[in-house]
Amino acid sequence: MTAERTNAPFGFEPSREFRAFHTFLAAARNHRMGPLYEQTHADYRRAGGNGGNGGSAKDVLGVIDNQPSYQLYAWAMRHLQQFKYDHADFGVVPAIGARKSYLRQRLRDLSDEGIGTGELTLDPDLDLPDYFTMTDFHQHPGGVAGNPLAGLAYEMSRAIRFKPGADSNDLYRNIFSYLPADRDYRRMLDWGTSFGAGVRTWLEAHPGTEAHGVDLSEPCLRLAYVRARERNMTAQWRQQDVEHLSYPDGTFDVALFAFMLHEFPAARFPALFKEAARVLSERGVFVGFELAYVAGSAFQNTLQDQEGWLNDEPFMPACFKSDFQTLFREAGFSKVTIRRFDQMADNVTHSSPDIPKRQTWNIYVAEK
Ligand SMILES: C[S@@+](CC[C@H](N)C(=O)[O-])C[C@H]1O[C@@H](n2cnc3c(N)ncnc32)[C@H](O)[C@@H]1O
Repeated sequence: MTAERTNAPFGFEPSREFRAFHTFLAAARNHRMGPLYEQTHADYRRAGGNGGNGGSAKDVLGVIDNQPSYQLYAWAMRHLQQFKYDHADFGVVPAIGARKSYLRQRLRDLSDEGIGTGELTLDPDLDLPDYFTMTDFHQHPGGVAGNPLAGLAYEMSRAIRFKPGADSNDLYRNIFSYLPADRDYRRMLDWGTSFGAGVRTWLEAHPGTEAHGVDLSEPCLRLAYVRARERNMTAQWRQQDVEHLSYPDGTFDVALFAFMLHEFPAARFPALFKEAARVLSERGVFVGFELAYVAGSAFQNTLQDQEGWLNDEPFMPACFKSDFQTLFREAGFSKVTIRRFDQMADNVTHSSPDIPKRQTWNIYVAEK
């Protein structure tokens, strides 16, 4: 049976109190990333730290661990995120949970339609890797496949991450602008698509092409299908492990990875990239971005590592230490370009250029 369609997008209108709470959390987060971060750095220098250059993570931690400014910074990193997801009254997960019977049924009805048309292919027997099921990435309770509405929870928490009014999909437009212009991109793969934002942004910019979104998470894929249909977009959504794709060799002209690499144990990279290279065509491009260390900036790199531990992103530190130029080449890419990706810069601007950035992102363009 075809589900009844209304013009209202799937989801619910958050209460005024919910919005006020998350506006407060965003301000508190900006305070952590701005003044509190700067205070941590100033205290570090005052205590003999060398401004962020040279030294080791152990040296930096030896200094900042005893500083109240860093202790508060670390507390805020862990707990503001926990409040966002889990606060008993206004956390994203309890807010969704309060409406779960309606939302679950509605999501199922709307997305079963995609199973019927063949746009959405789920695999109830898919073996989810241990690294995926054992980690509550970025403190999302149960992770993005933990319950039928986990995709909606992830989507809401992502919307809250960006500046109010900002179009979070600008991020994907920026990534696509790095694609070599001298080729034809007819088939696109979003490698770990989640709720499908990369696919939708691709289709807006490249109508008439074919887009596929692959993910391990059924709740995310069901939502991805629904969000695409709300915009009258057609795409293929497949529940698969990107390390073991069902597509024949050379299927895609471009594969996108966004917010992905730090979610894998580094030991999986060779097999993952080999599989990405396999499904890309002769002139195919693997493009995406990831957080990265800055050479010689022990202060920044240490704080980035700490974010991994504090925010339940346990694979981050090993990801930062990986040599992606070599990994992509060994997987079968002949040209790999790595550049800074400042479009992912913080919401806050530091008061002096001498303060190391809190985070640095790189963009990777790997051509076959
Ligand atoms: C941080 S989210 C990023 C989602 C998306 N790329 C975006 O830009 O919003 C990571 C996604 O990767 C998916 N994922 C993790 N490991 C995967 C794997 N081995 N195969 C397929 N998807 C995977 C997760 O289910 C999750 O939806």
